[in-house]
Amino acid sequence: MASIQETLRTRFQAAIAAAFGDAYSTVDPVLGVTTNPKFGDYQANVALPMAKQVSLPPREVAGRILAQLQVDDLCEAPEIAGPGFINLTLKRDYLERQLKAIAADPRLGIPVVSHPKRVVVDYPSPNIAKEMHVGHLRPAVLGECFARVLEFLGHDVLRVSHVGDWGTPFGMLIAHLRSTYPTALDAGNALSLGDLSTFYREAKQRFDSDTAFQEAARLAVVQLQAGDPETLKAWKIVCELSKRSYRAIYDLMGVSPEICDRGESFYNPLLPDVVAALDAAGLLVEDRGAKCVFLEGFTNKAGEPLPAIVQKSDGGYNYATTDLAAIRYRIQEDKADRLVYTTDVGQSNHFAQVFQVVRRAGWVPETVELFHAPFGLVLGEDGKRIKTRSGDTVPLKDLLDEAIARTRADLQQRFQAEGRSETDAFVEDAARTIGIGAVKYADLSQNRTSNYIFSYDKMLSLQGNTAPYMLYAYVRVQGISRKGNIDFDRLSSDIPLSLQDDAELVVLKHILQMADVIEQVSQDLMPNRLCQYLFELSQKFNQFYDRCSVLDAPEPQRTTRLLLCHTTARTLKLGLSLLGISVLERM
Ligand code: ARG
Repeated sequence: MASIQETLRTRFQAAIAAAFGDAYSTVDPVLGVTTNPKFGDYQANVALPMAKQVSLPPREVAGRILAQLQVDDLCEAPEIAGPGFINLTLKRDYLERQLKAIAADPRLGIPVVSHPKRVVVDYPSPNIAKEMHVGHLRPAVLGECFARVLEFLGHDVLRVSHVGDWGTPFGMLIAHLRSTYPTALDAGNALSLGDLSTFYREAKQRFDSDTAFQEAARLAVVQLQAGDPETLKAWKIVCELSKRSYRAIYDLMGVSPEICDRGESFYNPLLPDVVAALDAAGLLVEDRGAKCVFLEGFTNKAGEPLPAIVQKSDGGYNYATTDLAAIRYRIQEDKADRLVYTTDVGQSNHFAQVFQVVRRAGWVPETVELFHAPFGLVLGEDGKRIKTRSGDTVPLKDLLDEAIARTRADLQQRFQAEGRSETDAFVEDAARTIGIGAVKYADLSQNRTSNYIFSYDKMLSLQGNTAPYMLYAYVRVQGISRKGNIDFDRLSSDIPLSLQDDAELVVLKHILQMADVIEQVSQDLMPNRLCQYLFELSQKFNQFYDRCSVLDAPEPQRTTRLLLCHTTARTLKLGLSLLGISVLERM
């Protein structure tokens, strides 16, 4: 089933070609949903940009297109408005047929793409040996959402984590491990993560103050790079411990277990060849012993081109070199058509630079898209970078636990006030679903590129564009089925559907836009569009439900409305699941 907008696009392109010749068959009809119902449901604005090309007034262009346009199976007679806009209003019987069709479709009428791509989504990639903190919230939440949306549309998604598991910090960790926990090397994984983050702090303190320790750390890096077995063993212990603790948080957050774990170290053996290939491509320049690629469009204050250093004068490699190797690997070995990265805005230059280098090196076929999806900071209620009371970065686990604890307290209070007795297991499950959902939703509903203020009060509120509001709209529908003892999946299909009230039409038309919204999100990776869409759906549904009786309505309205309720709930559930949020049947 093609989306309405897709169908209209095809029809318009055919009409434009018929009116002006095949040369115009790929013209963009500039279609969109109208913002004012006065102008119908969809609008095509193609006549305005086309007018110049065909040397006719825009209204005349619109008229000629309409003379060829065949849409009477889905729209009322189109109208030309203002300077040449074409307004389209969906027919009621078409909408009734659509409702029936999507109700019977497990995908709610949302098509899979006709040309699936192999997409590598790079997330969430913390640096090993540090406890995950608030800075790791956004890549985990956004990356998971991207992967889910793309996968739902039928793309072949490979989730790859690019954890920082190599480099100088390991020298100090290993040196510290050797001197303070010599037994850990035999005892295997005896350290716990709590140990590990204290451990990191201790190591850092020593490193900053003790020159003998610095030397030991430097030596450990050399040994690590040389592949010394005992050093590698210590390194593995640190990596394993960190990964295990990350997994526990990912599980709590609903981050897919199917993440392919390729830390920076994975690319080590490939780095010399990356440098050699850049040299072969004629891009490499030696500058004071360092091997560099001079970048186009990146200059220093004096206006001189900036170098991307790919190999330092001591022979070591950089973060950038590893990313160059990773891109090459993902294109050549993973056969990716699209590479997606999500990191904070601070890394935008890094990605612009490595993307430039790989393109100039000729490693990126024209069909391959490189996409950096940057995100803004998470701020505290004071508008500054979020911190704990003592001024430290907030551990991610604490942040999530607090959301769950507050939700639990709210629920217990409400249940008590309502005289409801719920099992502990129910309360726990609900607190977790709502609490985690609220944190994720608050993140995803912001424009990805902006900073946002992290506020428990706001995100846990039952009012406004929040997860609890959305979850509640879903629960409201489930309440209807319980109250009427109705099995939504077994609504009679013999009763002809009949849409009567404007509020019904408004909900259904909104539901039918879901396919276009998801398609758009899959392209620009802006999940706030999907949040906004779901929020408007809940609002429209609530208006409908306040206005139209459902269980007490006579047939055929009753069945029509029940189907509308059920389809709304399924749309909410699907949309939330693409955001990585699960629903509750009651709350
Ligand atoms: N480990 C990096 C950090 O914590 C993020 C890695 C992002 N992915 C990449 N391919 N560079 O900042």
